[in-house]
Amino acid sequence: MQKKRLLTGVQPSGITHIGNYFGALRPFVSMYKEYESMLMVADYHALTTLKAPAELRENVMGAVKDYVAIGVDPKQATIFQQSAIPAHTELAWILECQVTVPFLMQAHAYKDKVAKGLEANAGLFCYPMLMAADILIYDTDVVPVGVDQKQHVEYAREAASKFNKVYGDTFKEPREMILRDSAAVPGTDGKKMSKSYGNTIPLFGTKDEIHKAVMGILTDSKGESPENVYAIHRLVKDETEIASLYKANKGKYKVVKDALASDIEALVAPMRERRESISDADVANILKDGAERARERAESKMKAVRQKVGVTI
Ligand code: ADP
Ligand code: TRP
Repeated sequence: MQKKRLLTGVQPSGITHIGNYFGALRPFVSMYKEYESMLMVADYHALTTLKAPAELRENVMGAVKDYVAIGVDPKQATIFQQSAIPAHTELAWILECQVTVPFLMQAHAYKDKVAKGLEANAGLFCYPMLMAADILIYDTDVVPVGVDQKQHVEYAREAASKFNKVYGDTFKEPREMILRDSAAVPGTDGKKMSKSYGNTIPLFGTKDEIHKAVMGILTDSKGESPENVYAIHRLVKDETEIASLYKANKGKYKVVKDALASDIEALVAPMRERRESISDADVANILKDGAERARERAESKMKAVRQKVGVTI
C-alpha cells in the first residue's frame, strides 16, 4: 500500500525554540517514517518579516542542522528549501486568483501580526496562499502543526476546493494534525511561546542560556504550583514523576525551575552534540538532494495545473 504524504514547514525567521520542538518538530520525528515525509524550510515565508539577508541565510542553515540533530534522517524525509522550488510561488499566484480579498482578510495570523505593528506588506497578506501552494503541490494528506496554524491549513483546503470546483478535480484536501498536549506551549511570560514575542526558551541554547530562560518564567505567587513552569515540564518529563516533584515542593519555585532546566538539558545535550557534528557542507548536500526530489514532484503537478488553467499552448 502506498504511504500517505506528510508535509510541514518552519519559517527560518529566528532560532528554534522549545515551542517549535514540542509543537511541530517532535511530533514530526515520532511519525515521519510512517509517511512519505517532507520537511520544508519556509524561507520565502520568512521574507515577509525578515529583511536581513545574512541572518536569513544563517537561519536556513541552522534550521536544517536542527532537523537532523533532533533525529530526522534526510534519506528518509525530503528536507528542502522552499525557494529552491519556484513552482511554489507560481502556484501561489494561481491560487491567489481563486480567492477573494475579504477571504484573506479573515486570517488570524495576518490580523495578529498587523495588530502587533508589523508592516502589512502584500506578502504577509497573501501568506496563506503560498502556504496552501506548499501543501497542495505535493498532494499532501497530513500537515502536522501547532494550533496557531490550524486556520492556515483550512485555507489550503478551501483553496483546493475552490480550484477543483472551477477546473475539475486536481488537488487533494489536506488535514491538519495537532498534538493536543503541546498544541500551545507557553512562553516564559505565559503567552504562547513565539520568536516574535521574545519569550522563548531556545532549543539549542547553551546550558546557561537555557537555565537563564527557565529562571525567567513568570510565576504566580497565588497558585499552588507554578503553572507556566509545570506546563512546560510535563512535555519534557513523564507527568506522574513531575506531579510528585511539584507536590513535594509546593511554593519552592526555584527548586522546580532548577529541575526543569536540568531536565531540558538532559533532553537537549545529546541532540546538541549531534548538531555540532553537522557541517555547512553537509547542509548544502542535504538541501541539494532534497530539492531534486521535491522539484520532480512539484513539476509533474504543475504540468497538470498549467494545462488545467489554460496557460499551456
Ligand atoms: P514562531 O511563533 O516562534 O514564529 P513559527 O510560526 O515559525 O513559530 O512556528 C513553527 C512551527 O512550530 C509551527 O508548526 C507552529 O505551529 C509551531 N509552534 C510555534 N510556537 C509554538 C508553541 N508555542 N506551541 C506549539 N507549537 C508552536
Ligand atoms: N506558516 C507556518 C508557520 O509559521 C510555516 C509553513 C509554511 C508551513 N509553509 C507550510 C507549515 C506548509 C506547514 C505546511 O509555522
